[in-house]
Amino acid sequence: MRKTKIVCVVAALAMVAGCSPFGLGSNGPSPTEAAAQSQFATIDAAMVTTGDAGKLTASGLDVTIPQLGDFPALVLAQENLRNEILQHTAWQAATDVKISTRVIASGQHAIGLLTSALIGGEEHQVAVYYHVASNTAVAPAALIEPAKWAAFTEAVGAAPGGQALASGLDKRHYPLGEAPVIGFAGNGDLVVQAGKTAVVLGADQAAGWLTPFGMQVLGAATHPSKAAPPSAVTKADAALFGTATTGATRAAITLGPDCATLKCVALTFDDGPVTATDDLLSTLRDKKAPATFFTLGNSVDKAENVVRRAASLGNQIGWHSVTHKSLPSLKDDRIGQELGAGATRLFGLIGSRPLLFRPPYGAHDKRVDQLIGQHKMANIMWSVDTRDWDKSKLSGAALTQAVVRVAVDTAKPGGIVLMHDIHDTSRAAVAAIVDGLRAKGFTLVTVGELPGWQKFAWGKSYCTAPASVGTCW
Ligand code: NI
Repeated sequence: MRKTKIVCVVAALAMVAGCSPFGLGSNGPSPTEAAAQSQFATIDAAMVTTGDAGKLTASGLDVTIPQLGDFPALVLAQENLRNEILQHTAWQAATDVKISTRVIASGQHAIGLLTSALIGGEEHQVAVYYHVASNTAVAPAALIEPAKWAAFTEAVGAAPGGQALASGLDKRHYPLGEAPVIGFAGNGDLVVQAGKTAVVLGADQAAGWLTPFGMQVLGAATHPSKAAPPSAVTKADAALFGTATTGATRAAITLGPDCATLKCVALTFDDGPVTATDDLLSTLRDKKAPATFFTLGNSVDKAENVVRRAASLGNQIGWHSVTHKSLPSLKDDRIGQELGAGATRLFGLIGSRPLLFRPPYGAHDKRVDQLIGQHKMANIMWSVDTRDWDKSKLSGAALTQAVVRVAVDTAKPGGIVLMHDIHDTSRAAVAAIVDGLRAKGFTLVTVGELPGWQKFAWGKSYCTAPASVGTCW
């Protein structure tokens, strides 16, 4: 059936009467209409979600967050993407920000999500693709074989209006869609789109360029079905996302800050928030530094607006139980209450459930880990203990200085620094810590973005040896 359809593939063909500059047939929308809408497959969100979308709203901010099913690395990838967009907009003091996500591929093997960030009326689109069996989230370039990348970008550039798209393809796609989105229309055509410009390439031509994963995404776009998590995660086939070929280069397929080459480190704050955490949030925003907050239920109740603002600024929000009891001494049902309250409480406040849990006192065992997993979180410990709570020897400015020294002097790439935002002396240390770490070449990220985050799985424990240095994931 597809073979009888005239597809405007390259410039020469587009000259044929009836072909619009956007490669659509004469019965398709006019270029202007085409420009206004996404060309990607439109798939029912219920194929990958488990309930109503969450909402994070603040003045000038409107974020709609899909509640995804049991796809751990995809859920974290989406949270990371959202946090990066929010950081970017907060740091640029952007107003009028609207973020939403829709499904462009869903099936047994693959999921595709298209996130749209409308910032001051300008739309940025970012796609995240997910291989279900191996729990791996990747950027759109993973759809195209490295050896075919040059032919693919050439074809995009040759299509009417495609030159700007082609020159953007080698840019980084994440987090604000500097590179156009690569994906599929519902009829199987390959779509390359950035903002209001789209090129549609025929499925027959595109078939030769796709990786095995690209073929799976194609199937999930043209014949969508409900995505279901695997019973066990398996290692991805070596050729799945493309075969490395000598001399062939392709845009990055990884998502998030490139912590494989950058020296990334994460600052974390437990037990709060308190009202004064608001000032810390301003400090972090002014320094353009993200952090991760392990919020305590009892504190959240007293500082709801602070939690909402922390999330609005693109900080990651984790959970630290309701009452700060040592969990291993509690019965299962009580631990369940301490853990489960996080999802209910934070979903209502910021539109998303916590993915990261830090046990009070760092106390956990196999039973606690299992329960953390049942509540779809991972257990996050630390690599640097600033002992910022210990006022037995130092206090005031001396304690603040000691906290700065420990954080800056002992942090290693991939590490997690433990602090508590409930202490004045700790909050006062943060600006100097950020400066000190940056002077040593560190990049500050959220815990969810540290190197190895792709291994994210429910119930796993990360950074479990407090004295450990190096990578926590
Ligand atoms: Ni604590």
